[in-house]
Amino acid sequence: MTACSRKITVAIGLIGGFWLAGVAAASDSTAIRLAHDVCAGCHGVDGNSLVPNFPKLAGQQKVYLLRELKDYRSGKRVSEIMAPLVAELGDGDLEQLAAYYAKQAPAPGIVNDPGLLAVGKSLYLNGNSTTDVPACESCHEADGSGSGKFPRVAGQHSEYALDQFRLYATGKRTNGARVMKAVAERMSEEETRAVAEYMASMP
Ligand code: HEC
Ligand code: HEC
Repeated sequence: MTACSRKITVAIGLIGGFWLAGVAAASDSTAIRLAHDVCAGCHGVDGNSLVPNFPKLAGQQKVYLLRELKDYRSGKRVSEIMAPLVAELGDGDLEQLAAYYAKQAPAPGIVNDPGLLAVGKSLYLNGNSTTDVPACESCHEADGSGSGKFPRVAGQHSEYALDQFRLYATGKRTNGARVMKAVAERMSEEETRAVAEYMASMP
């Protein structure tokens, strides 16, 4: 190889490198721009949604977020609101969105009925052996932070949690662990409201 062709090869390599870096940066900002321009309207800029029926995403487990986003896209998790919003997004965009929300700091939740916290705490930590409800902490962790595919529940809006329990109990949310249907079916009305309040109260 002559000195001249070596220089050309190096130059092409450099241009290629800059081009690739440019593409990566562009798709990165596309996902983040989307988070700021579209998702923020319902979930808040930093994923701390202010509307109680829209889930908080801040500090949520990245593995869990990515799976839910893919399930909305494929229709495995059914939501008329979420499906069209992610329909055109590629895996890379969904990854960046999941990573973005996972690293935001979760804001404290709102407790509507402090009188239910004791019942909720007991159910969360011990389950109910009479009705065969397993302890939530065995999967969602004692502090509610979750791990990997087990979602964070600490500080989540109780209204959103109640919506999800209804979807699980009626067999309308089936994309994840089957155990959540059994959990939702076996809890009494009071236990369901109590555990939702307790999750909202967790820092
Ligand atoms: C018009 C309001 C709205 C917009 C805009 C919106 N979402 Fe949602 N999002 C919702 C609702 C409502 C749910 C709960 C749906 C359900 O019951 O499955 C949800 C659920 C989710 C979940 C599942 C959370 C969990 O805890 O399981 C993720 C992740 C999510 N949205 C991400 C996004 C992203 C990323 C965007 C932007 C591309 C976005 N959302 C835009 C309303 C919205
Ligand atoms: C054996 C493990 C396991 C146990 C026990 C368990 N969960 Fe879950 N839970 C999961 C998994 C996995 C998901 C997410 C995937 C899915 O939909 O199944 C989930 C989802 C949830 C969600 C929806 C989160 C969201 O952001 O949409 C809530 C709320 C929840 N669980 C609360 C509870 C409560 C309360 C209990 C105890 C009464 C409990 N879970 C017991 C594994 C478990």
